[in-house]
Amino acid sequence: MTDSTIATSAPTTLTAEPLTLPCGVTIKNRFYKSAMNEALAGRDCAPTEAHVRLYRTWAQGGAGVLVTGNVMVDHMQLGEPGNVVVEDERDLAMLRRWAAAGTENGAHCWMQINHPGRQSPITINPHPVAPSAGKVAGEYGKFFAEPTELTREQIHDIIRRFANTARIAKKAGFTGVEIHAAHGYLINQFLSPLDNRRTDEYGGSLENRARFLFDVFDAVRKTVGPKFPIAVKLNSSDVPIAIKVNERDGAPGGFSEEESVWVMKQLEARGVDLIDISGGTYSKPVIQTNDGAAEDRRRGVYFTDFARRIKGELSVPIALTGGFRNADDMERALDEGITQMIGIARPLALVPDLPNRIIRDGWRGSVDLPRVTTGIKHLDKAFGGILVISWFELQIHRIARGKHPNPRIGGMRALLFSLKQHGPAALTPRRRKGRQ
Ligand SMILES: Cc1cc2nc3c(=O)[nH]c(=O)nc-3n(C[C@H](O)[C@H](O)[C@H](O)COP(=O)(O)O)c2cc1C
Repeated sequence: MTDSTIATSAPTTLTAEPLTLPCGVTIKNRFYKSAMNEALAGRDCAPTEAHVRLYRTWAQGGAGVLVTGNVMVDHMQLGEPGNVVVEDERDLAMLRRWAAAGTENGAHCWMQINHPGRQSPITINPHPVAPSAGKVAGEYGKFFAEPTELTREQIHDIIRRFANTARIAKKAGFTGVEIHAAHGYLINQFLSPLDNRRTDEYGGSLENRARFLFDVFDAVRKTVGPKFPIAVKLNSSDVPIAIKVNERDGAPGGFSEEESVWVMKQLEARGVDLIDISGGTYSKPVIQTNDGAAEDRRRGVYFTDFARRIKGELSVPIALTGGFRNADDMERALDEGITQMIGIARPLALVPDLPNRIIRDGWRGSVDLPRVTTGIKHLDKAFGGILVISWFELQIHRIARGKHPNPRIGGMRALLFSLKQHGPAALTPRRRKGRQ
């Protein structure tokens, strides 16, 4: 952290203002802790005491909404090692404890629900599924197996799974759900004309490509009722800002900004409560480098141009996610009306009580993310975003063990952690007793 100036009396801040969602629920302030995979579940994919401790700490840290790391709807299709899976009620007791901890201090705790589609690492899933056959492109392609195309029956089964996971989340005491439609996972694959080459009602025109998302949304809404918050995390486009600036890959393709705006309007009409704006896929990831604060200074708050463009076009609340590191940027974005909530992930793995510091203590400094490096150039280059993710997962594990985050942890430890997670023990598909 830099410049830990504490104002003598906490000034009023827009981040402290409550927000009422279309479903009628009021959020106590504008801090929206975006999803971060906790990598805390064991081979049984069940939530643990560590989840309880972690979310209690974040809830006490003052955020209005805590979105969980992505929870999978199918134990055979994991996005990352250490994912929680909710597909039946066997873990209801622990889910209840997790939800209770995450809703302490007036916080909302929303479960992010996801299916990875073809972005399911080969180390844990040799048989991924996708809207169409075709491997993940780009430097991370080697981490994923060739998927098989989903049948209509399988698509309908996954829609039911999303609704069932949302039902169990609500029953356990989570106060909302976020449907993950971004970052190149299954719903995003359906939306993308590059990934989705189906010729049935789930492929082709934008309306058809968006059908899977809308079917999932409608099924979840029908299950949880009209008064339960449903958010959707959606890419502003499949191309993260840095690639556009660098023009590295020539013509980007994928789900475009115009298409994203159309989907948002449709979701608004269907009764979504909040849209969490993000971007990128594994082929073109949102977290691309390990440059830390230097990268942040270059990029600023992510997707602001897009948020400015759509300002006034939608009335549904927006959570703009990525790149918020200081109160001034947050204040400006809220004041300008380009977002209604401040989506924030990595800084909360380093400063879990950042919302309290800003709202209660009037802190005006900046959370500087470190440059994560192994000290070996080609390793840094080869693992880039994965190194960053693992480094932050290590910080999350510290908080979950009741320790303080430690910004001095080296990149090599993060790499070893990642190898351990994906290592030989993870090569067999995870099956739990009683699960086929
Ligand atoms: C360790 C880690 C895990 C993440 N896991 C998820 C996830 O499960 N679901 C998701 O939508 N985004 C995930 N993200 C992305 C964040 O929600 C967020 O979009 C991104 O980090 C940019 O926000 P930031 O600049 O505030 O970190 C993850 C990011 C990190 C660092």
